[in-house]
This record gives sequence, C-alpha cells and structure tokens, in this order.
Amino acid sequence: MIVIASDHAGFDLKQEIMAHLREQGVKFEDVGTFNRESCHYPVFAEKAARGVADGTWEKGILVCGTGLGMSMAANKIPGIRCALLSDCFSAEMARAHNDANMMALGGRVIGPELAKRIVDTFLNTGFMGGKHELRVNMIRDLEKK
Ligand code: RB5
Repeated sequence: MIVIASDHAGFDLKQEIMAHLREQGVKFEDVGTFNRESCHYPVFAEKAARGVADGTWEKGILVCGTGLGMSMAANKIPGIRCALLSDCFSAEMARAHNDANMMALGGRVIGPELAKRIVDTFLNTGFMGGKHELRVNMIRDLEKK
C-alpha cells in the first residue's frame, strides 16, 4: 500500500497519477489535499511522510508545483529519503542506489505521461543493496549526528 499527497498546485497531476495507479491495480491512499484551493504543502508532505516512516505505507508519492517544497519537507522526517524526480533514469537510481522511500513530482514542471512512467519506474525498481546499503546507512547515521 502506498500513500499519495499533493497541494493545490499538484492536485491535477495527482488525479492523473491516481487514475493510472487504479488501472495498474496499485493500492494507494490519498491523504489530501482534496481540492484546488490554495493550501500549505508541508501539511500534506508531513502526513504522508510520517506514515511512510512508521510503516503504515511502504512508499509515498508527493506532488506540488515544482516538487521542491514537498521533497524538502518530507526529507525533514527521520527515516525518509524522498527523491525529486523529472526523468526515468533518476527514478530507477533513486530506488536501486538510494533506496528512496518517497518521490516528489512537479505538477507545473512535467506532463502526465512522463510522470506516470516515472511513477512506474519508481514503484517497480528494487534496491540493489551491497555497497549501496552501506551508503544509505551512512545517510541514516546523519540523522543521529
Ligand atoms: C505553490 O504555489 C507552490 O509554491 C508549491 O506547490 C510548490 O511548488 C513549492 O515548492
């Protein structure tokens, strides 16, 4: 089960992604925002990120205007590695090398077809482990310093 969240600027792209996830049979929970009224992206980034960090959801997808604010906010939550993505290669590497557990997209940056491919790549790529596990553990250790 994954979680998806957006602010008003990411709302439309989130609808497209949710329709795509439904078609793919991917189970998800939408934690808002639920309309196009202006709102504050850190509220929704936190809701989703806390649930990924505590294991409620396995992975998370965040959408705002650029993806920047959402990813910055999510990465403040211990245990979250959120990648801001706008290409499929980075989506693959975010999972394979960085074991990212959340991804962020810019609804004002990329179109829906590319966004869907990025989401598919992110959700279907596994972590490579090995030397990359050591490095991800080094990121985790930064939270304790
Ligand atoms: C909202 O106008 C916009 O600032 C927000 O969606 C996001 O792009 C912030 O990083």
